Amino acid sequence: MSKVVVISGGGTGIGYACAQHYAKQEMQVVILGRRMDTLCQAAANIAEAFPKAPAVLALTADLSIPEQAQNACDAIRQEFKTVDTLINAAGSNAIRRAPAGSYADGLAGVARRWNDNFQNNTLSAVLLTEGIRPILKRPGGSVILISSIAAYRGSSIGCYAAAKAALHPYCYDLAAALSPEGITVNAVAPGYVQDTEFFGAALSPEQQKSKQAEALNGRGGTPQDVANAIAWLTSAEAAHITAQIIQINGGAEKGR
Ligand SMILES: NC(=O)c1ccc[n+]([C@@H]2O[C@H](COP(=O)([O-])OP(=O)(O)OC[C@H]3O[C@@H](n4cnc5c(N)ncnc54)[C@H](OP(=O)(O)O)[C@@H]3O)[C@@H](O)[C@H]2O)c1
Repeated sequence: MSKVVVISGGGTGIGYACAQHYAKQEMQVVILGRRMDTLCQAAANIAEAFPKAPAVLALTADLSIPEQAQNACDAIRQEFKTVDTLINAAGSNAIRRAPAGSYADGLAGVARRWNDNFQNNTLSAVLLTEGIRPILKRPGGSVILISSIAAYRGSSIGCYAAAKAALHPYCYDLAAALSPEGITVNAVAPGYVQDTEFFGAALSPEQQKSKQAEALNGRGGTPQDVANAIAWLTSAEAAHITAQIIQINGGAEKGR
């Protein structure tokens, strides 16, 4: 029986790079997102690239909505007895992706911006993790949360940074509960990562250069950079690493 990895946001960007890594290891990959066409395309690409891997299971869910997250977890629990690795890559800066005029003026708009970012970045990870928690492999399981450089230094719109920062104490508390059972819980905090839908085509060439220049190595991150770190954190070699937030940003933010 293949090991099982569940990856939210596995249809694109960092989550997709993770999905490719585990398919290469011939693990059973489960990907989740809101768009079935995107997930199906990702699953088909993986099947072509890694024909020996079990067929990717694609499940649609808006993971910020409890009922949808519950249905996805129920489907996973019906299919598999245990989950070896859970990677919470789903997330976005809700404001960046919202069509112009989406937010009302005044405090109603402020409240909705904060709620949207909290739901999309914090709650989506917490709901999936709590749903999968009972079937995580004991011992030997691993959980990854995806934070952001913004959690350390803020962002122009504080609610995205705050929503990511909220994952840090969740990581610590979950690690305290699960590490005695042999499950590691860690977060990664990427800096600017190119070639994902997070920024999409929103950045001008000048803005891209400016973000690249923030890194001490002068380049932006790639989905593969982040997937490599996650691959190691979820490997047996990293069994003694838990309750950590690992920054992946080429030195754009110094470690602390
Ligand atoms: N790119 C960066 O510079 C950067 C930097 C720091 C942190 N991050 C974080 O890294 C993670 C991965 O982002 P990425 O850069 O790979 O961007 P991405 O390509 O936009 O990936 C995000 C994925 O999450 C899914 N998703 C978003 N909200 C969801 C929800 N409510 N329920 C289910 N799926 C949801 C999206 O699919 P659907 O739209 O189909 O649902 C998409 O596949 C995110 O948490 C992001 O905040 C990114």
